[in-house]
Amino acid sequence: MTIIVTGAAGFIGSNFVINWLAKKNEKIIAFDKLTYAGNLENLKSVEKNPNYIFCKGDIGDSVLVKSILHEYKPRAVVNFAAESHVDRSILGPSEFIETNVIGTFHLLEEARFYYDELKSSNKDNFRFLHVSTDEVYGSLNLKDAAFKESNKYEPNSPYSASKAASDHLVRAWHQTYGLPVLTTNCSNNYGPYHVPEKLIPLCILKALQGQDLPIFGDGQQIRDWLYVVDHCKGITAVLEKGIIGETYNIGGWNEKTNLEVVNTLCGLLDELRPLHKGKSYKEQITFIKDRPGHDHRYAIDASKISNNLGWKPQETFETGIRKTVKWYLDNQGWVSHVQSGEYQNWMKKNYK
Ligand code: NAD
Ligand code: DAU
Repeated sequence: MTIIVTGAAGFIGSNFVINWLAKKNEKIIAFDKLTYAGNLENLKSVEKNPNYIFCKGDIGDSVLVKSILHEYKPRAVVNFAAESHVDRSILGPSEFIETNVIGTFHLLEEARFYYDELKSSNKDNFRFLHVSTDEVYGSLNLKDAAFKESNKYEPNSPYSASKAASDHLVRAWHQTYGLPVLTTNCSNNYGPYHVPEKLIPLCILKALQGQDLPIFGDGQQIRDWLYVVDHCKGITAVLEKGIIGETYNIGGWNEKTNLEVVNTLCGLLDELRPLHKGKSYKEQITFIKDRPGHDHRYAIDASKISNNLGWKPQETFETGIRKTVKWYLDNQGWVSHVQSGEYQNWMKKNYK
């Protein structure tokens, strides 16, 4: 038995591969283009595992994807591959359309051709699981109910619009061609191997390096935070027990303002890596120009996956964020590699 995981060298993909191989005796083909966000160091702990094979490639490369599907004959494709950073989508949307829309289209087509040729028992077992985001539902006001699977799509950034388009393609490939698809829409993840361009790792590292902690606008925007390993377990539950053609929201029931999150990080660093003379990392917090079209609030109603598939997050925000801060303190080698090269270009471009 084999599964193909695309985007496997990114933040969530690499956590998924590591956790899967630790629990299951099943081969994983880790497929990734290795963009700025893909990092083989994330997968170092599994590189000698006999069930692990890495293939470098683009989900939009139909010839390569076809040959990999035929060579490894997977029972599932789990698609994490995407351009995932909202701020990058604002400064340069074209790669988001290329990978998230056109890339997903080519991947779906190759999965469909492969599926059509499977024998009936293999057909029954095959799944195409598409990993998506809560951002497709748009932005909530403070009093609005959390996003349910039945909410309409109202994406506001080039990133979320490209993910919404990919979700629609996945749905259409099921309705029209019968491809057995599943879609998950998750809230903000945090944890190990998170590229330090996103709020949590960015602020941990900038705090330690004595730099300003950049908060967009007034810092009152709200996100729902989920520890990445809990997200991976949710995806596994959907892959194993989800109903074909359905979508599942995954979230942590942890709504926090950005300012609360950054204050929590500073408090943990004050405890674990105290500054001299009782100073606090909070003094580094700086308010900067807001993100254009900044969504005010995301909140996930995760009762469907919880009631129907028995999944619940195991980490609270307090336990998960403490583990995360410790991970960054303990993995300075990973940090220094990730902060060289493209990271420096991005910092200059986005925060100048
Ligand atoms: P990431 O940016 O850390 O990783 C994306 C990975 O995809 C990278 O390894 C990159 O090299 C690879 N990739 C990019 N383009 C590719 C292509 N054309 N072909 C093959 N590989 C390609 O992203 P992430 O945070 O790990 O997110 C993974 C998925 O989960 C994305 O689809 C994202 O939309 C979704 N998601 C992320 C979050 C979050 O909080 N990070 C929350 C909900 C959903
Ligand atoms: O909701 C799920 C989404 O969460 C995923 O689909 C995306 O792939 C993922 O990147 C994430 O998107 P966000 O835009 O919410 O994440 P980010 O870490 O970039 O920002 C979190 C919040 O913090 C957001 O309100 C913007 C704010 N922020 C971010 C950065 C990078 C700042 O205030 N300052 C910053 O420097």
